Amino acid sequence: MNKLTANITAVGKYLPEKKLTNKDLENFLDTSDEWIQDRTGIHTRRIASKNEATSDLCINAIKELLNGKNIDPNDIDAIIVATVTPDMMFPSTACIIQKKIGANNAWGFDLSAACSGFLFALETGSQFISSGRYKKVLVVGSDTMSSILNYSDRNTCILFGDGAGVVLLEPSNKGFGIIDSKLNIDGTGGEYLYLKAGGSRLPTSIETIKNNHHFLYQEGKTVFKYAVRGMYNVSKDILERNNISVNDIKLFIPHQANKRIIDSTAKKLKIDSNKVLINIDKYANTTAGTIPIGLYDAVNEKKVSKGDYVLLTVFGAGFTFGSTLIKWGL
Ligand code: ACO
Repeated sequence: MNKLTANITAVGKYLPEKKLTNKDLENFLDTSDEWIQDRTGIHTRRIASKNEATSDLCINAIKELLNGKNIDPNDIDAIIVATVTPDMMFPSTACIIQKKIGANNAWGFDLSAACSGFLFALETGSQFISSGRYKKVLVVGSDTMSSILNYSDRNTCILFGDGAGVVLLEPSNKGFGIIDSKLNIDGTGGEYLYLKAGGSRLPTSIETIKNNHHFLYQEGKTVFKYAVRGMYNVSKDILERNNISVNDIKLFIPHQANKRIIDSTAKKLKIDSNKVLINIDKYANTTAGTIPIGLYDAVNEKKVSKGDYVLLTVFGAGFTFGSTLIKWGL
């Protein structure tokens, strides 16, 4: 039998209805639409409603996928959820989703790798499929960033939005799907982007609340530099080790953290700008959501066809970074 690869056979996404535009932010923050568009490329972002948590965003995305392909939830073998904003510390978001969608035969878990989470989860799911043991794996990327942002900190709150995306992995014996992944972590970057309290190191207390330690902290400039270098290096390496030229790539879907990071990475890679998927203007940085949402948009806007090479590249807190090469098989 030919080697099994993990093929993406369906996609789903969900963005909350509520839009928060740059103009809306001007009403309560010392910022401007012009500054945000110039420095980040973001125009608007979606914000979850009071009764929407990460599992709800994921479930809406998954329902779209299952209904679109007419799949019985009982046929799902595993659910992997990449997120840094789970509904709660435990049980996992995967368990909450499993119950609500009625995936009675599935197991699953959450995976924490910030903005790189989806690619880390995709590689994990890919190995499950390639082993031959699992036939249908849902890989979800979602974050409710609005739950960990300080909306009086203009350095961070303008950058993020809420959203979810999901793909279904199924085996292919014709070489379609995930060809290779190169994933990295570099813990020396931990001090530049983190959420300090609420874990075992610094449990929630009146002090942690007073000191804003339950909000995302970021040293933007440092992260920016590492992001461009990390995304470039890992993209170049994966292309080289697979003997694929940048000209062979039909679509590059980079993590959507800042349009300037995307442009610099694409320029260093010498990839044509019309091959680069951009949706940061509409959704901002949805952390683990950006790549699966990007894949959904690519399919919906017919930017990929069967047999095309697609390159996914991410960078996030940790630091975490990675690149995945796909031979599109949908
Ligand atoms: N509106 C107006 N002015 C602002 C705003 C704002 N929203 N935010 C910052 N400024 C000001 C700053 O205070 C500063 O003013 P000062 O010179 O008087 O001190 C000035 O603008 C320039 O600030 P910089 O930090 O130099 O701006 P920069 O061009 O670096 O952009 C940004 C900041 C957008 C945060 C950028 O550094 C960035 O995108 N960083 C990387 C983000 C990222 O990739 N994160 C990784 C993934 S996230 C994850 O894993 C969860």
